[in-house]
Amino acid sequence: MAARVIDGKAHALAIRQEYAVAAAELVRAHGVTPHLVVALVGDDPASAVYVKNKQIACEKAGFRSTVTTLPASTSQAELLDRVAAWNADASVHGILVQLPVPKQIEPQAVLDAISPLKDVDCFHPENVGLMVQGRPRFMPCTPYGVQQLLIREGIETAGKHVVVLGRSEIVGKPQALLFMQKGLGGDATVTVCHSRTRNLAAITQTADILVAAIGQPELVRREHLSPGVVVIDVGTNRVGDKLVGDVHFAEASEVASAITPVPGGVGPMTIAMLLGNTLRAAKLTV
Ligand code: GUN
Repeated sequence: MAARVIDGKAHALAIRQEYAVAAAELVRAHGVTPHLVVALVGDDPASAVYVKNKQIACEKAGFRSTVTTLPASTSQAELLDRVAAWNADASVHGILVQLPVPKQIEPQAVLDAISPLKDVDCFHPENVGLMVQGRPRFMPCTPYGVQQLLIREGIETAGKHVVVLGRSEIVGKPQALLFMQKGLGGDATVTVCHSRTRNLAAITQTADILVAAIGQPELVRREHLSPGVVVIDVGTNRVGDKLVGDVHFAEASEVASAITPVPGGVGPMTIAMLLGNTLRAAKLTV
């Protein structure tokens, strides 16, 4: 049986349209236009594409978008000065420093310096803490995008075994937390697997839903999956000039009941959720 392919791009477009309507209402009621500032440090070509896509999505939703491109030689102190200026600027609602940053910059120092009220990545310890306690200010963009995809596809998580492959701060760790929260898109039994997990296939075979976010091209193969599993592929790995996920799509789609493609699955949802956080940050100011 061929899996249903989940169209993340279509869901993301619909969500972005909802945010465009909400942004227009914020402008009408309060004269406030949501404004996202993105800092791109250095000349990583993949990062430049991601930042451009964020900018286009903002503008299409009627948000203001500022992209500040800084040279690869930028010092940590210089970047911290920029962040301080954006923190103090009332016209800026969201601040995002695109990762990775050049090696002379300690990413955590910069992320910690972003005002928690403007931290639209939801990376600041205060916002991570609020999210863990189930009273979020912002939502982590990729994990929340995955959760929204499942909700909007009508895929139940309550009581299901969700296996998260990967334990990164950006995806794996917050993803597991969202699935174990009470309520819609949560209430799951969650297992987190990672690079040190033994007998990986034995665990992933017990998944009702598998979220692959381990950053290894096509690691997930036929033998990792049981018939009917829902496969969500967060991986975006460049192999030559091709973009491939963490899942071997052709093999997985023969076994799974539903699967996200790469590209066109989770990626567009991440950007949609970023707009949601920026809108929320703007609303916090009125
Ligand atoms: N680089 C890759 N993904 C992300 C993300 O979600 N946020 C930021 N700031 N940088 C990234």
